[in-house]
Amino acid sequence: MTTFAEPDAPVICRDASETRAHAARLLPFLKPGTIIRLHGPLGAGKSEWVRGLAFALGIPGEIPSPTFTLCQPLSGGKLPLEHWDLYRLEKARDWESLGWPECLITPGLVAVEWPDRYPGRWPEPIVDLEIEPQKDGTRRIRQNHP
Ligand SMILES: Nc1ncnc2c1ncn2[C@@H]1O[C@H](COP(=O)(O)OP(=O)(O)O)[C@@H](O)[C@H]1O
Ligand SMILES: [Mg+2]
Repeated sequence: MTTFAEPDAPVICRDASETRAHAARLLPFLKPGTIIRLHGPLGAGKSEWVRGLAFALGIPGEIPSPTFTLCQPLSGGKLPLEHWDLYRLEKARDWESLGWPECLITPGLVAVEWPDRYPGRWPEPIVDLEIEPQKDGTRRIRQNHP
């Protein structure tokens, strides 16, 4: 697999463990406060990637998914991690009542699935990752620079 010496080079992840390993290898390059926006279709491996990040941070125990809770705070690791899944948010939603986008400014890391649901401005710093399922079942992960 490629290293992050070339951040734009896409990486092929052949199974879920490689998707998690991708997150672990990116972690040293993520400064506290970074928002990781995870793009990709349903089933791409976005939640798996966040699980890999949680493991790499040393977050103990089960890693619950935020599918029904919108936001899953994950603590006990080297940095706090907030895992958002905006999939269930439809057009009419009071982002202000959720505290967006100010609540995204944290001392830890924030990972957001379905970031395109949010129409407003995002605080920096941001890392954009795109996970693209391939015909052979593997996933291609590309890091974009906004
Ligand atoms: N590189 C990969 N190759 C094959 N399957 C993968 C890969 N990465 C993740 N998966 C699997 O894809 C499925 C969907 O992953 P998930 O993280 O729930 O997707 P998403 O959150 O994008 O909807 C899971 O079974 C996961 O283990
Ligand atoms: Mg998911």
